[in-house]
Amino acid sequence: MKPPVLLTRRIPASVLSRLKATCSVDLHEGDDPISHDDLISRVLGKQALLCLLTDRVDREVLEAGVDLRIVANIAVGYDNIDVAAARARAIPVTNTPDVLTEATAEFTWALILAVTRRVAEGERLLRGGTWKGWALDFMLGMELRGKQLGIVGLGRIGSAVAARAPAFGMSVAACSLEAMTAPAPGAVRRPDVEMMTLDRLLATSDVVTLHVPLTSETRHLIGRHALSRMKRTGYLVNTSRGPVVDEDALAWALGERLIAGAALDVYEQEPRVYPGLLGLDNVVLAPHLGSATTETRTAMASLAVDNVLAVLAGRAPLTPVAG
Ligand code: DGY
Repeated sequence: MKPPVLLTRRIPASVLSRLKATCSVDLHEGDDPISHDDLISRVLGKQALLCLLTDRVDREVLEAGVDLRIVANIAVGYDNIDVAAARARAIPVTNTPDVLTEATAEFTWALILAVTRRVAEGERLLRGGTWKGWALDFMLGMELRGKQLGIVGLGRIGSAVAARAPAFGMSVAACSLEAMTAPAPGAVRRPDVEMMTLDRLLATSDVVTLHVPLTSETRHLIGRHALSRMKRTGYLVNTSRGPVVDEDALAWALGERLIAGAALDVYEQEPRVYPGLLGLDNVVLAPHLGSATTETRTAMASLAVDNVLAVLAGRAPLTPVAG
C-alpha cells in the first residue's frame, strides 16, 4: 500500500506525478490556503505533510498527525512551523534552501531599482493619465553607482545579492546577525564586503536590504529606532519576512520622510498590507514574489518531494532545518 501524504496546495504536474508514483496523495485543491481546521482533520493518518509558508503547522497539527514521519515545507523560511514541537515528536522538518537563492536575489534587485528609480510610482501616474511629458526635474530618483548597499544577514540570499552589487557600481557593507541567527551554511564571505555593526550599517548605507530569517530575535528588528538611524536619503528593501519590519514604524518613517523610500515583498500579516502603507507613494509593494519564477517554484516543490520520498524510504532527509 502506498503511504498516505497530505499536500496542502497544487504543485507542478511533473513533480506531483513523481510523488503520486510512490504515495497516495490527499491534495488540497483550490486557490485559498487550506484552513487550519482542515489541516488538523486531514493530517490524521498521513505519513508526510507537504506544506507552504501560508500553513500554520503548530502543536495542534503535529498532535493530530500521529503517523507523521516528515513535515516538508515548500519554502526556505520555516517560521510557520513549530520546529521544537516537531522535534519533541521526532518528526524531521525540511525546507528548500539553495534552489531559490538566485531568484530571490534577482527580485531583490528588481525592488532596489524599482524604488530608487520610482518605477511603480511613475507607472501609477502614467496610468492615471496625469503625465505631462518629459521635464528635466521630473520624478528624479537616486543613482546606484558609487552608493553603499547595506545587507542585513549575509546568508545564502544576502551573499547572492552582494554578488550582483559590483554590476551596479555599489560598494557593499553587511552585518551578519550571528549572535541572533545561526550562520547559514553555504554563505559566501566575500572579501569585497565590509562587515560592520547593524547600527553603523543603517547610518552609512544608501540602500538597506534585509535577508534574515524570522526568529524571536529578528521580529521588529527594523522599528522606529532603526529607521531613525538611517539616512534621510536612504531606502529600505525587505524580501525576507514581513515581521522583521515594524510596519507601523515604517509607515511613520516614510510619512515623515525620515527615509526616502521602501520596497516590500513581505508583510506582517499576509495577505493583509498595513493600511498606512497603501496610501504612500514612496513605497513599492509587491505580493511576496521573491521566489516566483517557474524554474524556482518547480525546484522548490521537487526538493520538498525528494525530502518526503527519502524519509518514507527510510533514508535521511536531504535538507533538514537547523534549530
Ligand atoms: C521562502 O521560501 O521562504 C520564500 O519566502 C518563498 O518565496
